[in-house]
Amino acid sequence: MLKITILYGAIREGRLSIRAARALEKALKESGKAEVTFIDIKTYNLPVMEARLFEMKNPSASLLEISNALSSADGIVLVSPEYNNGYSGALKNTVDYFTKEWSHKPIGIVAGSNGRMGGINASNMMQLLILAINAFPMPYKLLVPELHLSLDEDGNPQNEIIAKNIKRFVSEYLWFVEAISNQVKKGT
Ligand SMILES: Cc1cc2nc3c(=O)[nH]c(=O)nc-3n(C[C@H](O)[C@H](O)[C@H](O)COP(=O)(O)O)c2cc1C
Repeated sequence: MLKITILYGAIREGRLSIRAARALEKALKESGKAEVTFIDIKTYNLPVMEARLFEMKNPSASLLEISNALSSADGIVLVSPEYNNGYSGALKNTVDYFTKEWSHKPIGIVAGSNGRMGGINASNMMQLLILAINAFPMPYKLLVPELHLSLDEDGNPQNEIIAKNIKRFVSEYLWFVEAISNQVKKGT
């Protein structure tokens, strides 16, 4: 079993992108090949980052819990809505707390919006973010357009196209994580 951590980064009241995060969680579990830890940033209420975790003398239990969920994962998926052509500020704030936790991790990108473009601008910026933290962005991304129509509240696909895209994303992602995590294990 691959250990996968989903880091979901919207904290807005009434957020719709939780549907994309839930859809992915469900699809990964249904693959039978992944053990999933779901980190919903909203539940941690992290302050704006003033120091990174490794610089702190008394880090909060929340930060230590997220650090452990990232470090112990074979692969990570970042899930974000698109806000003003980028990913959510709450996600970036969380990412910035951590350093070595990201190193050489295979990372999948999921973005969504209530418009037709499915968060493509946010997803492109997430690729750059992942490179900056010394991790590997998977080339195939899952974009969810019209979140309110594409997925129901539990993340169930509402049309064939989104169902197919989720399936393809999970299949590519499991391959990607297995390849990179095997290489990482060899090197340690
Ligand atoms: C501050 C803000 C900026 C937004 N900017 C964009 C944008 O640039 N492009 C886009 O497609 N949708 C944009 N949206 C709409 C979001 O895609 C929409 O709220 C969607 O439901 C995903 O965000 P949510 O998880 O917060 O609901 C924006 C929404 C907010 C709150």
